[in-house]
Amino acid sequence: MRTLIKNGTIVNADATTQADVLVDGETIALIGSDLTATADRTVDASGKWVIPGAIDVHTHMELPFGGTAAKDTFETGTRAAAFGGTTTIVDFAVQSRGKALRAGLDAWHAKADGNACIDYGFHMIISDVRDDVLAEMDTLVDEGVTTFKLFTAYPGVFFSDDGAIFRAMQQSAKNGGLIMMHAENGMAIDVVAGQTFDAGDTDPYYHGTSRSPVLEGEATNRVIRLAEVADAPVYIVHLSAREALNEVRRARDEGLPAFAETCPQYLLLSLEDMGDGFNGAKFVCSPPLRPADHQEDLWLGLLKDDLQVVSTDHCPFDFHGQKDLGVGDFRKVPNGLPGVENRVDLLHDGGVVTGRLSPNRWVEVLSTAPARLFGLPQKGAVAVGLDADLVIYDPARRHTISASTHHMNVDYSCYEGREVTGAADLVLSRGKIVVDGDEWLGAKGDGRFLKRQRSEYLK
Ligand code: URP
Ligand code: ZN
Ligand code: ZN
Repeated sequence: MRTLIKNGTIVNADATTQADVLVDGETIALIGSDLTATADRTVDASGKWVIPGAIDVHTHMELPFGGTAAKDTFETGTRAAAFGGTTTIVDFAVQSRGKALRAGLDAWHAKADGNACIDYGFHMIISDVRDDVLAEMDTLVDEGVTTFKLFTAYPGVFFSDDGAIFRAMQQSAKNGGLIMMHAENGMAIDVVAGQTFDAGDTDPYYHGTSRSPVLEGEATNRVIRLAEVADAPVYIVHLSAREALNEVRRARDEGLPAFAETCPQYLLLSLEDMGDGFNGAKFVCSPPLRPADHQEDLWLGLLKDDLQVVSTDHCPFDFHGQKDLGVGDFRKVPNGLPGVENRVDLLHDGGVVTGRLSPNRWVEVLSTAPARLFGLPQKGAVAVGLDADLVIYDPARRHTISASTHHMNVDYSCYEGREVTGAADLVLSRGKIVVDGDEWLGAKGDGRFLKRQRSEYLK
């Protein structure tokens, strides 16, 4: 199958060019002016942008969590991702306490293989740092699972103490892996949450107020300093607060290999959204939404490269039947928000349309930097020889986000009724057109497991 994309504007992280793109099979074969090659399909991209498929390096399909499980399967979640212009995800496989990493990885392969509609890789969540687990990390790195998430949050679930985190970091310093940290002081947060509940403050809003941004800043500084002593790089996931950003900036100014992502919800939503009685449960995630005055700091962090990536932390739970496990006790609301479908448009609308980010920086934080940081050299740019993961993006199309039209398998949207400018018209996954306007042309099982390399940024 050959597809010729004519008259588009190619937007890469490093340049914007007016050129045609020829896709042959699964790869980008040719880029040039006035290409006349024969093709099975010719697409007129006049007035549109041709961008590399977006890469979401933080998703939780089918994650068992909070007494239930994230609603999107690898099939439904990756189809929704594709509708929104995302052509690769990296999801988190989970090690259960007392079990081997391998068992967790096998379980995630069983969920994804033959079901994902777009390409996918895995990080590994380490819940239990033991000698055999440290040795297993080396094997996983060689098998393309090069990144590991640990938590200073969720005591009794995923929490690791400082010694365990430090040991995992020392191991990654030896094997070239990258430790990803959920950085909130979970021990102190649980004390505050218990006291808040005991005082009769039980609504979801108090999930937000119980998790101080100072305790995110403290944990961020702590894990950065542990990584410094272990001589290892560190990546902070879902950074939400000014206090945490200040620590990442300070470390980077010192020349430390500290990296961080934020998510659309922290750039565009705020603690005030959690204030509407139990409706606030729709916005319960950790770290929580912050007061709105944190948002401009995060946008600036993206502009100045203190934050390198925008991911979604897609972890969808239905409002009816899942989030309502927490009626009367905010501590029991499953933590997580849907978003894998909306990231590209939300960041275009909130970042590019407002002038906060250039189109090139938008592409960089959504696709190019994730590809480089997470060992996917065949992705992340419109360039000859790379996978033909391409999006023909209409930067002028206005549409309204709604649960009634989205493709995610969840019964609400955090952005219900929000009008945004910018939409994916056509999406190619390794050369195959999978989305054409509202039409789904992809298939379950088309996605391929990506054996990832070590991070390019760390070389
Ligand atoms: O609330 C969140 N973020 N849920 C997903 C699990 C995690 O911590 O990433
Ligand atoms: Zn987390
Ligand atoms: Zn997450």
